[in-house]
Amino acid sequence: MIQIPRGTQDVLPKDTYKWQYIENQLNEIAKNFNYAEIRTPIFEATDLFVRGVGGSTDIVNKEMYTFKDKGDRSLTLRPEGTASVARSYIENKMQHDVNQPVKVFYNGPMFRYERSQKGRFRQFVQFGVEAIGVEDPLIDVEVLSMLMYIYQSFGLKHLKLHINSIGDHNSRAQYNEALVKHFEPRIDEFCSDCQSRIHTNPMRILDCKKDRDHELIQNAPIMYDYLNDESKAYFETVKENLTALGIDYEVDYNLVRGLDYYTHTAFEMMSSADGFGAITTLCGGGRYNGLLELLDGPEETGIGFALSIERLLLALEAEGIELPEPEGLDLYICTLDSQAAVTANRLLYNLRTNGVSADMDYKHRKLKAQMKDANRKGAKYTIVLGENELETKQAELKNMETGETKSVHFEEIASHLEE
Ligand code: HAM
Repeated sequence: MIQIPRGTQDVLPKDTYKWQYIENQLNEIAKNFNYAEIRTPIFEATDLFVRGVGGSTDIVNKEMYTFKDKGDRSLTLRPEGTASVARSYIENKMQHDVNQPVKVFYNGPMFRYERSQKGRFRQFVQFGVEAIGVEDPLIDVEVLSMLMYIYQSFGLKHLKLHINSIGDHNSRAQYNEALVKHFEPRIDEFCSDCQSRIHTNPMRILDCKKDRDHELIQNAPIMYDYLNDESKAYFETVKENLTALGIDYEVDYNLVRGLDYYTHTAFEMMSSADGFGAITTLCGGGRYNGLLELLDGPEETGIGFALSIERLLLALEAEGIELPEPEGLDLYICTLDSQAAVTANRLLYNLRTNGVSADMDYKHRKLKAQMKDANRKGAKYTIVLGENELETKQAELKNMETGETKSVHFEEIASHLEE
């Protein structure tokens, strides 16, 4: 039997309402914050991610679904959305758009070849936003406040927002040098990933899951001490304005993020709910000041975040929050014989095309079983069609909640339901 690929999942019809509810709410919030949707391809030139996300990252080194197409081009299923948005911004010269900054959101599948476990999939759906074209602490605050509001709007309470500043390229270079000095003499005490990170991206040692309790991580140099005055001032303004909005956050000097393009503000939202599981990060993001230039684009800067719907659903489950189930059918037509079924079928077409959600039985069940089916489908009204009804073209419309019935002509069912 052919099985679903590891790390992927079917969202079954009984559960899709949750996804639709979440997506509608995210669209609504994006609209209120004035972010417009962008849709980019699911695959891109491999080089986009190698250059954009960074050659030293786990994503590029270990996790990309890369393939050659029939024209011998190297393509990759997108592992994240920011590089694609940056590519599209550059290609469509969005720096000249009248609406500035360019504020976009996306919602779609991403692919990473990761070890699958609870909350970690090989195909997952990211909702993300990007604001490109301004460097102002207030836009950082806008993005962070949107992120916080998204989670709060679903009723989540056990949230922890971690923020850090990883400064500009100069501060980062100096900081990396200090980290190499700090770790190099005892790097053989660290995992093999950290042993290679010391050469490629020393900051990533700080958020190593395996070595997080090592004393050298606990007493490592702190990024903040290497920030220049401008970066410090930028970070202070972001923090001040978050506080002014009443947004709780924690400064986490070890937060470095797993993608190379970040500068200045970087952040992650964690769930602190019991039972959320080992992976507690709900969302991540930050500012990327050099990314567009790195991709041969204009000198514009951006900031954004992405969250996966899968982890949002896990957080809702961990906090016992249930999303509203969809409304049931307006009408269910029970039929007593095959002639009645033919009439029901015609009536249904007429009703459905007039805005009534309605269904009938196709499995030739007894009346009692049909009624059960109507209840299962949450039908608000039912009618039963038999010989008499076909003759008079009248049926008893039954309100399933009150039990009240009313005799209605076939032609008037839709208008009665509307009332
Ligand atoms: P990221 O931290 O790699 O950042 O991913 C963002 C979020 O995507 C994670 O916090 C998590 O919710 C979700 N996610 C990542 N990998 C998986 C997985 N294997 N299974 C389920 N969910 C996952 C980015 O992707 C950046 N592009 C975010 C960003 C936007 N930065 C600036 N703008």
